[in-house]
Amino acid sequence: MNKMNDLEKFFFRTDHRLIHKWRHYFEVYDRHFSRMRDKKINILEIGVSHGGSIEMWNDYFHGNATIYSVDINPECKKFENEYTRVFIGSQEDKVFLKHLNDVLPPLDILIDDGGHTMKQQITTFECLFDKVKEDGIYLCEDLHTSYFKYFGGGYRKKSSFIEYSKHFIDKIHAWHTKKLPVDDFTKSVHSIHYYDSIIVIEKRPMSAPFDVKSGVPSIEDKLAFEPIIKK
Ligand SMILES: C[S@@+](CC[C@H](N)C(=O)[O-])C[C@H]1O[C@@H](n2cnc3c(N)ncnc32)[C@H](O)[C@@H]1O
Repeated sequence: MNKMNDLEKFFFRTDHRLIHKWRHYFEVYDRHFSRMRDKKINILEIGVSHGGSIEMWNDYFHGNATIYSVDINPECKKFENEYTRVFIGSQEDKVFLKHLNDVLPPLDILIDDGGHTMKQQITTFECLFDKVKEDGIYLCEDLHTSYFKYFGGGYRKKSSFIEYSKHFIDKIHAWHTKKLPVDDFTKSVHSIHYYDSIIVIEKRPMSAPFDVKSGVPSIEDKLAFEPIIKK
């Protein structure tokens, strides 16, 4: 059995508020978030529920994170504390999201663990992706709802978040397509990582890619390749 990471250790301690996660999520979080553990960072997490993940992030980031949380349930306001601010509203309400955009500082990490419907995931992405810093991370979880009718999904259904996010793959290649514009997404996204039920988008300022060569071809290589290259 692999050694547990610090998130898993915290999760299995049980002396904290209820947290409900898929077992493999902790490895994904740790893989992407560990570089920020000792920095002063701002996190926005959509979805508070019992407040357990707020405690988990505070522990994982050694108290260095200011946590902004969103939930539609007004009861969640009680989880506010010295390191957490809770906003009550719906992640599919564009006016509410605009308000968040106005009042929140730039974000190092945004985690969408809210209601998981297609409309919620897409609206949140469209309204708040730009709020993530140029070296920040956007993570949306429970993407399996893209396959569930109840959440507005369905296999290969055009309006699912999975289908929506497949366009991101074309967008990071816009430089090569001669069709797509090189837009803000192309210029700000370094990489897109898919796992079961999670997408992680890592930002980094990007410029047009170029290829490089190094080393000297041997005479034999030249003789072998040149006739082919000339064809
Ligand atoms: C999966 S739970 C969050 C769990 C929490 N992050 C944790 O790991 O312990 C989802 C939460 O999203 C909230 N929610 C559902 N629909 C929402 C919406 N439209 N906007 C904001 N929050 C919503 C629910 O009230 C619920 O508390």
